[in-house]
Amino acid sequence: APPSILENIKDGTESGRDENDVEINWEGLGFNLTPTDYMFVMKCAKGEKFSKGSLIRYGNIELSPSAGILNYGQGIFEGLKAYRTEDDRILLFRPEENALRMKIGADRLCMPSPSVEQFVDAVKQTVLANKRWVPPLGKGTLYLRPLLMGTGAALGVAPSTEYTFLIYCSPVGIYHKVQGAVNIKVEDKFHRAISGTGGTGGIKSVTNYAPTYTSITEAKANGFSDVLFLDSATGKNIEEASACNVFLVKENVIFTPEIDGTILPGITRKSIIDIATDLGYKVNQRSISVEEMMSADEMFCTGTAVVVNSVASVTYKETRAEYKTGPETLSEKLRKILVGIQTGCVEDKKSWTLQV
Ligand code: COI
Repeated sequence: APPSILENIKDGTESGRDENDVEINWEGLGFNLTPTDYMFVMKCAKGEKFSKGSLIRYGNIELSPSAGILNYGQGIFEGLKAYRTEDDRILLFRPEENALRMKIGADRLCMPSPSVEQFVDAVKQTVLANKRWVPPLGKGTLYLRPLLMGTGAALGVAPSTEYTFLIYCSPVGIYHKVQGAVNIKVEDKFHRAISGTGGTGGIKSVTNYAPTYTSITEAKANGFSDVLFLDSATGKNIEEASACNVFLVKENVIFTPEIDGTILPGITRKSIIDIATDLGYKVNQRSISVEEMMSADEMFCTGTAVVVNSVASVTYKETRAEYKTGPETLSEKLRKILVGIQTGCVEDKKSWTLQV
């Protein structure tokens, strides 16, 4: 790491691991937390701009019991990955897109946000300080989790007086238990977010995730890997799964719900649309009814954590639809190109990757 980064490292309240105390076992990584060495922290007061952050040892943070994030959910997060290439370089994938999305979420929740440059620089510093945790190619990736939260103390319902931008990271492997054949349950009681442009479904608000837990817990108890939510206005159209966007393929045409303020504008979603379009596929972004979904040939989900994963079946009430899976699917073709670009194996014609 460049000396500037090491100079920046300070001790946190609770120290992380010692550089040499663990033999890293890269086999069988799932989407679980492995504590790493350092995290990046930057604070600013309400009405001010973020200026300078620093790396500290990974560990617990101290928060007031009346912090805005704890009491009123004033917080958003991001997710992006660092990929190790065959020749041992480390790449990021479109990190400025995460920075821009964080800014939109921050504006919606009345928070200051780091500039794109500050965000990307902080991500790079975090990766470099935790370089030994970037798994070898083919074993996994280093997942980075930027958080932006109101950390000032207040009792009233009002924007926090202090904000913290923090990035921690963890090596991860596959997200869903099965890669290549996910079984999904359609949730017909609860909704993920309020439909339409007035809600917060379209930002990565921390409050969008816990409301999916009842549905996920029930679905998992019944053998499903994920849950698909329907729009709250009509209950007829598909939106997204608990942590990923969804796509359908019918007669070689691709469909995905449009970005309407309710679903998350996924960076993987957007990249897959571009890759498919470049390959000559037509991609329709529009409302998709449950019936239409049930009659598709193929279905897959996309997300930073999920990457691209084929859906084997969808169950809606008593009806189950099955889809094509396996190496011949369009989803597999798109996944290979995407992962190829991310890991430097496929030419990056769009300058999506950034070397750390
Ligand atoms: C990601 O894909 O990075 C996400 O944010 C999903 C997360 C909730 C696991």
